[in-house]
Parts: sequence; C-alpha cells; structure tokens
Amino acid sequence: MKAPARRNDEDWRTLKFHAGQIFTPSSPLTVAELFAGRSSQIDLLAEVVAERGRHAILYGEPGVGKTSTAMILQHFIPSAPQTVHFYRHPVVSSDTYSSIWKEVFKGMTFNLEENGMIRSHAIADLYPGEVTQNDVIRELSTFKESVIPIIVIDEYQQFKDEIGAGYLSETIKAVSDASCHATIIVVGVGDNVDDLVRGHKSITRCSEEVLMPRMHNDELHDLLWARTTQLGMKLDGDAKWKIITLSKGLPAIAHALGKSAVNSAISRRSMTIIESDVDKAIAATVASSKQTLKSVYEDATNSNQERAKLKHLVTACALAKTDASGWFAPKDVVAPFTNIIGAHRRIDHFNSNLKEFATAKRGNILQMKGEERAHRFRFTEVAMQPYVLMKGIEAGLIDKKAMSILSSPEQDDLFSSTSS
Ligand SMILES: Nc1ncnc2c1ncn2[C@@H]1O[C@H](COP(=O)(O)OP(=O)(O)OP(=O)(O)O)[C@@H](O)[C@H]1O
Ligand SMILES: [Mg+2]
Repeated sequence: MKAPARRNDEDWRTLKFHAGQIFTPSSPLTVAELFAGRSSQIDLLAEVVAERGRHAILYGEPGVGKTSTAMILQHFIPSAPQTVHFYRHPVVSSDTYSSIWKEVFKGMTFNLEENGMIRSHAIADLYPGEVTQNDVIRELSTFKESVIPIIVIDEYQQFKDEIGAGYLSETIKAVSDASCHATIIVVGVGDNVDDLVRGHKSITRCSEEVLMPRMHNDELHDLLWARTTQLGMKLDGDAKWKIITLSKGLPAIAHALGKSAVNSAISRRSMTIIESDVDKAIAATVASSKQTLKSVYEDATNSNQERAKLKHLVTACALAKTDASGWFAPKDVVAPFTNIIGAHRRIDHFNSNLKEFATAKRGNILQMKGEERAHRFRFTEVAMQPYVLMKGIEAGLIDKKAMSILSSPEQDDLFSSTSS
C-alpha cells in the first residue's frame, strides 16, 4: 500500500479494513502471496502430484495450517502446458463413502453437445443413486493428460463410517494400481498416520505421509512480515518476537495477535507496531477467546487453597519445553514453575496437581499418557497453551526477566528444561 504524505481519518479506516482482510485468524489461506513458509511440505506434495500412482496423507495437530497448505499447493504446481484441476471436500461426520464422492463429482464436469451447443454438466448428475468404488476408479481414469487433477479429502478425522473408510482406502490403492494420474490427498488431524487412518493400511501403501508441524519462528516471522509490509507498516523487533513466542507455532494466534496489534497502532495513528500494541492485543485476544477456553481455564485453576498455586502451575506448563507433538514431562515444568513462584520446587511438590489437571474436575485442561513415573502431559486443546500464556502475562505471573526473554530473538523457548 502506497503511503500518503499525511493520512486523514479515511486513510486510517482504509488501512484498518485492509488489515482485516489480510490477517485471517479464522479461515484457511487462499492467497499464495500471503502464504508463509512450508516450502518442504509443498515440495514433497508437489513431487507426489508429479508421480503417477502416488498419493498423500497430510496430518498434524489442529490449526497448524493443513487446509491452507493443501489449498495453496495448486498454485505451486507448474501448470503450463497442463492445467491443475483442484477439488476439495471437507468431510462431515454424517458423510459416507458415496456422499464424499458425490460432493467431489459435483465439482467435476464434462461437456456434452446438445442441439449443436456444447453444455457443461457435473459428473454428479450421472449418479442419482449411490456411488460405488468402481464408479470412482472409472471416473478418475477418464481425466485427459492435459489436466493435473488433485482431489483433497479434508477433515478426514470426521469420517465416522468405518466401512466407508475401508472402501476409501481400497479405492486409493486401486486408483494407484490403475496408474490414474489423479492425486488424492487425505488431510486430517492426528499425531501420526495410524491415528488418522485407523488401521486401513492399504491407503498408506501408496501414500506419502506428510507431517504438518507447528510453524517455525522464521515462518511466523514471514507471516507477519508479509502482512505488515503489504500495509506499509513496520513491526518493531520486541513486538514481533512477543507475537512469535506467544503463538507457539500456531498461525491462527499469530494472525489474531498481529491483527489486533495493527489495530492498536492504527488507533494511535502510528505506522509502527510496538510492544505496547501487542500487550493491548493480548488483552483483546484473551477477552475474545472462545468461552470453552475460558471455562476450562477457570475449572483448572479455581482453588480455595492458595498454596496450590494452580494458575502458576498451569502457566509453567504452558512454558515447558515440549516434543514436536506438544508433550512434556513433569521435569520440564520444574524450571518455569520455580521461576514463576520465585522458589525452587521439586516434582513431588506439584506432581499430583499436574495429574489432577488431566481429570474432569480440572476441565481436562491437560491430557496424560504413559506409565506411572513416566507420565507425559500436553494441553488437550492446542489453543489453550497460548491462551494460558496470555492469561499469565495479564496476571503478571511472568516476571520482567521472563518477559525480556520473551522478546529475545535467539531464544526459541522461554526456558530450557532442567532436571529436578
Ligand atoms: N503458511 C501460512 N501462512 C500464513 N497463514 C497461515 C499459513 N497456514 C495457515 N495459516 C493460517 O492459520 C490458520 C489455520 O490454518 P488452517 O485452517 O489451514 O489449519 P488446519 O491445520 O487445516 O486447521 P484444522 O485442524 O482446524 O483443520 C488460518 O488462520 C490460516 O489463515
Ligand atoms: Mg483444516
């Protein structure tokens, strides 16, 4: 956006509107220019599309950017002289094998000459009844070589029809064996592919398994940079690192905080976003968070016993170093908990409270897995971790030292784990 010499109210309003369009915390991305990072996943998926008979399963935690990546992929496939035909169906829990393919077939068309006129029809019109596996294999075999068909079956974890899931798995294998050049990409939430495909092995034999991890700091940096630059605004270093660290690799949080911080700067009539804008954004994001996050946090931290320090403990959990899937061990909580309450605390001191966080009484704010003495925990809902951090900042539980670490570029985690 070109910077006018002196902005009037109308200019600031326009800028705010434009910010609202490019920060999209609630919807998958469709604009390639605003898509940040993810080059290794895109490259892998592009290789899959290029190779006949190969398909993909794109999986990962909720909200990490699976749908956006699947949708943007089409723009990264060198199309000339061929053209990419892209179809996507987000599965809903009432879907069956047949209803999924009917939806996909609604987007696929064929031409028919009628009275000297060429008319386009949806393939779905050919199937008033149920769609069978043979129908799908036949239809996917009829694509011309001049097109690159990509079919995305998204939100696969919603597919409750076990028999249908078996059929789908067999279909993908059969499409592969028939050497069709259509690529099917199954997308869904899961820590691993087995979680997602629930034992339907044939799907994995011909599919590349592509993990969508949380975003790296440099990818979140790109996400923010692309947007603020497009607005002609500057994001101050401290403000940027605060957003990045609080986002915990979740792009939707970076969008929400980024948008709100931009709005705060605009209301100050400034083109530079500074740390106090991010603090305002934290308050606004906490206030507008989903009611379920708020009530689970309340259940988890509500206590008559001041000694329990449950708010401090849950904040320490949100600061703990985790593995790639968000799991942490009690020992990882020691350093942040000690830092927050300002006195050394051993695992025995908080272990029973930690376990209680994984019960209904505490809103199941955490999940627990593993044997006694080797328990691991993680936040049940991914968005809870940044929410807890923001609540911790608001409540002043994260002190100045931790706050300065929070703004430090070279530090990707607030605390490294130490043993008890
Ligand atoms: N590479 C990216 N660059 C910028 N923003 C992104 C990127 N990937 C995702 N986003 C943003 O992150 C949010 C989540 O993206 P998306 O809906 O694609 O995730 P998802 O993994 O499909 O989520 P779910 O598990 O809920 O289906 C959206 O606000 C989207 O705009
Ligand atoms: Mg999605």
